[in-house]
Amino acid sequence: MVIMSHHKKHLLMTPGPTPVPEKALLAQARGMIHHRGPEYGEIITRVVENLKYVFQTSRDVFIFTSSGTGAMESAVVNLFSPNDKVIVASTGNFGDRWANISSAYGLNVVKLEFEWGTKADIDVIKKAIDENPDAKGVLCTHSETSTGVVNDVKAIAELTKDKDMVVVVDAVSGLGACELKTDEWGLDVVVSGSQKALMAPPGLAFATVSEKAWKFVEESKLPKFYFDYKKYQASIRKDPPQSPFTPAISTMLALGESLQMIREEGLENIWKRHIVFGRAVREAIKSIGLNLFSPDDDSSSAVTAVWSPEGIDPKKITTMMRVEYGITIAGGQGKVKGKIFRIGHCGYFQRSDIISTIDALESVLWRLGFKFEKGIGVLAAQKVFDEAGIY
Ligand SMILES: Cc1ncc(COP(=O)(O)O)c(C=O)c1O
Repeated sequence: MVIMSHHKKHLLMTPGPTPVPEKALLAQARGMIHHRGPEYGEIITRVVENLKYVFQTSRDVFIFTSSGTGAMESAVVNLFSPNDKVIVASTGNFGDRWANISSAYGLNVVKLEFEWGTKADIDVIKKAIDENPDAKGVLCTHSETSTGVVNDVKAIAELTKDKDMVVVVDAVSGLGACELKTDEWGLDVVVSGSQKALMAPPGLAFATVSEKAWKFVEESKLPKFYFDYKKYQASIRKDPPQSPFTPAISTMLALGESLQMIREEGLENIWKRHIVFGRAVREAIKSIGLNLFSPDDDSSSAVTAVWSPEGIDPKKITTMMRVEYGITIAGGQGKVKGKIFRIGHCGYFQRSDIISTIDALESVLWRLGFKFEKGIGVLAAQKVFDEAGIY
């Protein structure tokens, strides 16, 4: 007999949106404040400082009221002109999005498609750059959320360094989870969003622009208004910093608290914690006897993607986990929809969240007829955490 409670505690194990810490939730629950007033001024001043830390940049970080895709679109419209050639290194659904946005604005897209579940091959990108010296940019993805791959954006940036070409990085799910150093690695434009590893609700997106990229901004002729970087630069440089239009004030209040938590934990510690999450989930998955879709390596620390076992629709797994166990994981996107499921672990997570997820997954799989030694996945995850000293 199955006893179902309608009041399960809810654990959100998706790669965005992700759980928001209580402090941040409470901050946004307060009465509205005005975005041109002194109190907001103090909050945004601190947010800007902390965003620079998270992006590892000394440049401005522009803040948009939009989702992550808005920040992606902002990069395209601010850097390029009609018919410009861009190279897109796509490793999945979000790499494809770079190509789609670029095409929508009439750019000439050279699309490199890498096998889903694998990293972008640096040699292939190098060859494309050599063959297309007139290309103005390489658009790539840091953490490819649809597959669990984290690309070597540092190596991609090396390829464009001495060329009249910018490297543009989508770090929507990677920033604040996996190592990323905007200035040190020479990343020209990095975009991200509030609702993943930054542990805030959806509603805000960000972009950094290097000195080299700013020259592209000066020359760009694509039409733009809401996302015009010149407007954002002028506003963010005011004292206190401003946004040109009404910001998502409540999300900003939450983000202020979440960023403070990130600052206190420290990026290096956060990157390490995420590596351990990824490792624990992978070891559990392999012990259970499932096959990983994402790479079996420590770079893959934001999302773990898993092949659903032969004959089991991943929708069944995700639905049972959500309805009967209170744990939400994600299905596949694009061409791997119906084939894989994904466990998100970028953001406000801890050991107990991972262990609970593996426990529920084991139970669901067993009930769906996929047999293995019960508890073996949980044990494997525990071992990883114990060895890393993470409790
Ligand atoms: C890597 C990546 N890029 C872009 C996006 C798009 O962000 P949003 O859904 O906030 O527009 C997402 C979010 O799902 C993502 O994970």
